[in-house]
Amino acid sequence: MTVDAPGGDGRRKRIRSYVLRGGRITSAQRRAHDKLLPRWGLAFSPAPIDLDAVYGRRAPRVLEIGFGDGATLIELAGSRPETDFLGVEVHPPGIGHLLLGIEARSLTNLRVIVHDAVEVLQHQIPPASLDEVLLYFPDPWPKKRHHKRRIVQPAFAALVADRLKPGGALRLATDWEPYAEWMLEVLNAERGLVNAATDQRWVERPTLRGATRFEARGHRLGHRVFDLEYRRPISGGFKSMAHVAPLPREAVPEFRELFDHYANTRGFVPNSILTMSRRPAIAKAFMDLNRAVLYEGTVPEELKMLVSLIASQAAGCRYCQAHMANLSSIYRASDAKIAAVWEFETSELFSDAERAALRLALKGATVPNEAGPKDFVELAKYFDDGEKVEIVATIALFGYLNRWNDTMATDLEERAARVAGRTLGPAGWDAGKHGARS
Ligand SMILES: C[S@@+](CC[C@H](N)C(=O)[O-])C[C@H]1O[C@@H](n2cnc3c(N)ncnc32)[C@H](O)[C@@H]1O
Repeated sequence: MTVDAPGGDGRRKRIRSYVLRGGRITSAQRRAHDKLLPRWGLAFSPAPIDLDAVYGRRAPRVLEIGFGDGATLIELAGSRPETDFLGVEVHPPGIGHLLLGIEARSLTNLRVIVHDAVEVLQHQIPPASLDEVLLYFPDPWPKKRHHKRRIVQPAFAALVADRLKPGGALRLATDWEPYAEWMLEVLNAERGLVNAATDQRWVERPTLRGATRFEARGHRLGHRVFDLEYRRPISGGFKSMAHVAPLPREAVPEFRELFDHYANTRGFVPNSILTMSRRPAIAKAFMDLNRAVLYEGTVPEELKMLVSLIASQAAGCRYCQAHMANLSSIYRASDAKIAAVWEFETSELFSDAERAALRLALKGATVPNEAGPKDFVELAKYFDDGEKVEIVATIALFGYLNRWNDTMATDLEERAARVAGRTLGPAGWDAGKHGARS
C-alpha cells in the first residue's frame, strides 16, 4: 500500500509495499521486456483504462496484484480463456518470466502493467469493473516498524471494494500467520466487503489457486497457509454492522398503528424500534415514553428535537444525531439552524430560551454529568417546572437511545442519512458503523 508519510523536507513521501531490488534477470527475460512488453503490456497513466477496448471484448475480469513470476496467472489465463486477466508487478525478472509464459502458451487474454498496483487501482481501474482481485503471498513485512508497508491497509480495502463489481471476490493467501490475522482485522472492518467464511476467518484453499514459489517456500519453512475470501455485497449497499437484525414490521402486527404513525411522521419505521420489538414489552414501553416525552406538553417540538440532537452529539451517537437532524427538519428547524446547532451559544439563529435548554442538554448528556444549579436558574427564566421536566425527560430519553443505538450499531435508514449528510455533514458527521450512505 502506498500511504503518505511526512518526509524530512516537510513534503509528503509515499510509503510503498515493495522495495525495488535489481535481482538477477536472465537474457531471455530481458529480451521479453524489450520485445514482448510493448505487445502485452499496458502503460501506466493516471487515467481510467477502457478494459473492453484493451481486450476487444466484454468478459469477466481478474486482476492479480504482485504476481511474482506469474505462475498463477499463466495457469489461470490458460485454463479460463473466457476470462480476461491483468497482472500488476514491479519485479523485472518476474515480469520477464510472465511475458515468456504468455508467448509460450499463446495466451491472448492476459495483460501486464509494470507499476505500483495501488496506483493502478487508484487511477486506471474504473469502479465496479473487476470480478476478482487476487493477492497471493504479499510481502509480509514482519517487523513492527515495517507494518505500514503492508499492502493490506484500511484504505486499500476500501479501494479494492470500490473496484470490484457487486458480487466480485477478493482472494488472498499468506503463509505468515500474523499477517493473516492482520488481513482479517483490516478486511473484516471494511464495510464494502463481506468475509465469505462462515466463521469470518479462513476459507478452504481454492481449487483454482496453483502452487507458487512463495507458497512452496512457506511449506518448506513449516508454515501453515491461510486462504481468505471477501465478496463485495450484491445489493451494492454496505454490509450491516448491526449486532441484532431488526424484525420486519409485519412480524409484530400488534404494533401496526404505532408503526404507521412513525412511517407517516418521519417517512420510515426506525430500525432501533424494529430491533427492540424482539421484546415487545420493551418496545411498547419505549414507544409510549417516547410519545409522552417528545410529542406531549408545551415545550415546542422543534426545541425538543434540537435538545435531543445536542444530547446525541455530546454522547457521540451518530445514528441518533441523524434521526434528530431529520426530526428537527420535520419540525421546521431550517437546515442552517441544524447545521449551526453546535454553535448555539453564539449563533444568532438561537433564542436565549433555546440556548438555556441546549446548554442543559450539553451538560446533562456529558459523562460525568455537568449540569448544575446555574443552568436551572437560567432555564427558569423561560420555562415553568412542567416544561423543565419535559426538557430533562428529553435529555434522559436519549441516555437510553444513544446507548441502545451505539451499542447495537443500528443500521441507519436512507432518509435520516440523507438529511444528516446535508445538514451535519459539512461539520464532519458521517454514518460511521451505522452504515447507510448519506
Ligand atoms: C512475496 S511476492 C509473491 C509473489 C506471488 N504472488 C507468489 O505468490 O509467488 C510479492 C510480490 O508482490 C510484488 N509487489 C509488492 N507490492 C506491490 C505493489 N504495490 N505493486 C505491484 N507489485 C507489488 C513484489 O514485487 C513481489 O513480487
